[in-house]
Amino acid sequence: MDTTERPGSIIGSPVPRVDGPLKVSGTAMYTADHSFPGMLYAVPVCATIGNGTIASLDTAAAEKMPGVKAIYHGGNIGKFFRLAPSKDSSTKVDEKRLPFEDDVIRYHGQYVALAVASTLEQAQAAAAAVKVDYHEEKPDVREDLAAGVEQKTKSERGDAPAEFSKSEVQVDQTYTTPAESHAVIEPHATVAVWEGNSVTLYESSQAIVTYRNTMSEMLGIPKENVRAITKFIGSGFGGKLWAWTHCLLAASAARNLGKPVKLVLARKMMFNSAGHRPATQQRLRIGAARDGKLTAIVHDFQNHTSILDDYVENCGEATDHLYSVPNVLITAGLAHRNVGTPTSMRGPGAVPGLFALESALDELAVKLNIDPLELRLRNDAEIDEGKKIPFSSRHLKECFTVGAEKFGWAQRTPGVGSMKKDGVTLGWGVAGASWIAFRFDCELTLDLRADGTARVACGTQDIGTGTYTVIAQMVSEKTGISLEKIVVEIGDSALPPGPTSGGSMATASIVNALNGAANDAIDRVLRLATAGANAPFAGKKPDNLAFAAGRVHEKEKPSESGIPYEKILKAANVNTASASGKSKAMFGDITEPEKTKRSMHSFAAQFAEVSWQPEIARLRLNRVVTVVDAGRIINRRTATNQIQGAVVMGVGMAMFEHIRYDSRNGAPMNSNLADYVLATHADSPPIDVTFIEHPDPYLNVLGARGVGEIGLAGIPAAIASAVYHATGVRVRNLPIKIEDLLVPAATA
Ligand code: MOS
Repeated sequence: MDTTERPGSIIGSPVPRVDGPLKVSGTAMYTADHSFPGMLYAVPVCATIGNGTIASLDTAAAEKMPGVKAIYHGGNIGKFFRLAPSKDSSTKVDEKRLPFEDDVIRYHGQYVALAVASTLEQAQAAAAAVKVDYHEEKPDVREDLAAGVEQKTKSERGDAPAEFSKSEVQVDQTYTTPAESHAVIEPHATVAVWEGNSVTLYESSQAIVTYRNTMSEMLGIPKENVRAITKFIGSGFGGKLWAWTHCLLAASAARNLGKPVKLVLARKMMFNSAGHRPATQQRLRIGAARDGKLTAIVHDFQNHTSILDDYVENCGEATDHLYSVPNVLITAGLAHRNVGTPTSMRGPGAVPGLFALESALDELAVKLNIDPLELRLRNDAEIDEGKKIPFSSRHLKECFTVGAEKFGWAQRTPGVGSMKKDGVTLGWGVAGASWIAFRFDCELTLDLRADGTARVACGTQDIGTGTYTVIAQMVSEKTGISLEKIVVEIGDSALPPGPTSGGSMATASIVNALNGAANDAIDRVLRLATAGANAPFAGKKPDNLAFAAGRVHEKEKPSESGIPYEKILKAANVNTASASGKSKAMFGDITEPEKTKRSMHSFAAQFAEVSWQPEIARLRLNRVVTVVDAGRIINRRTATNQIQGAVVMGVGMAMFEHIRYDSRNGAPMNSNLADYVLATHADSPPIDVTFIEHPDPYLNVLGARGVGEIGLAGIPAAIASAVYHATGVRVRNLPIKIEDLLVPAATA
């Protein structure tokens, strides 16, 4: 990491997390850490079949067990309400069926009852004692997703199927990615505390405002009566964007019993009833001329979804703009299966899509006998050809060339198995990547206070990425107030509504609102500095004053000559100069003042080196080089950390992670962290992270885009291509397994 300070600006500095001490000392309060007098524990009873109906539910024995307060089911839990559809995510759930709504079981682990007791152990014992009989049918968890599925066109230009057929060189292959679990360290949890007709919900949420709105509508009480609190999150990865059915169960049980109720999902439940990345199947047809110029891409994909919900994993998100190609057809299909409802997981859509697209490009490069990096450079896109609009800022070519230099790509020899080092075979792979950049609505307040501190209040949340820290940095940049004097108050829906922490968009969403609030708060201090005969700058105009390093000074004089702002406030007996900031959501459509449409994405080039020892079937990932074009970087420490973490997730996706469903009962068979294998430190190679900083002039005043998901996007394809280069085996079905490689290369 480049840790050099930038003189004069805290933006970009590798400032350590301001909430770091709370985390390492164990004082940061995660949802399940909240306890209240008289609190009860709730444990769901989960269906043990994957398809069928409940024949009978016998709670009699469970109800008589020690400490048991209630066993809830469809007949006694009370009423929940569905959400009216909305055009944005002001309210949202991915699993739309209300808990206990009917007697039909559509996925293994679906909640059929809820045990509530004085202790966790009593509730667990009671849940286990609820006797459920089923009319069982065979679940449909078939892995082939294409059969019988209707494809809908997502993007189209030219006549891609015809031009593909006519093209000189063709690749026509099918790629699959498996279902994945978010595998967050902190499981989902809800602690519900009622007071009269109002409820406070401690929740592990990436979007407390949406969560508050959603819970109010589903519980049937006014928004003002619901408060959601999320101070710290042990990662979300998309799984905690929207409320799940257990949230309603906890809230309802607490209301019914008049006591606080805590419900923490067991790890096993995290694989069923709280979302996952769906399995995908993607047929890629890419046509090119002999010189490597792309002529056509047809990307037909399907993903599995639950029986009742149409969750679309938009695998074609990057396909229509990443490279220049005149003919493109992208179609999507849904395969309904007896699985829990999928949801967003880190880089939803684009990440599995890029595995297929970038793998197919590597296959094309082999067929063309063109270097895979060179192939990408030859097909760089000047504009977003899918939307036919310019990019706000795109430097993918520079990512490739900078990365190639860092990686040493010029040394690559193209032949399979042709590169050796210390007696082992090396494989080198490269992939390009993009990830959307948008802005959510954001409101916040900034208080400059007479005690020399500043306070920001915003109903957003820090999902572990550094939101507390970057907000403090932005305030410090504008005011010169030092970080330890800046209080960042987030994670409470009672605060002004802030952005969702999703899609790597929270930081970019906050910039303009904070900038506006800081300008207005400073303006109030400057007015105060000139107001009245006794004011320190009496007789001057606020316009002639400036605010820097926490001081008010005359513009033509140095800032050291100024007066600390808190002195000005104190002298006038003013406690707070407060200002509100607000910025509107922007989904690539309108930017002020240009009113020009721009395609907004972050870009990356990712390089991987594997080593392969066929005699002992040992595959190792040696190193990763990743170059990211994400606009201006606000904190190089947290941003680098985001990319490193995402790369590790990409390693997991490439080499380990998959949920396997039991065809007999639809159960995820590896629903625990022993059998659901994740990349660990031992699997994580040295990761070289470089940001090429070109501020994006369209997204916000700092030019900062998001830096989370982009770090993962090209990794699986880069690794799979490196594996091909080393072994001659093209793995098109993730994860890459050793047994895939135990095939003589000649037959692969
Ligand atoms: Mo993102 S899918 O909210 O990690």
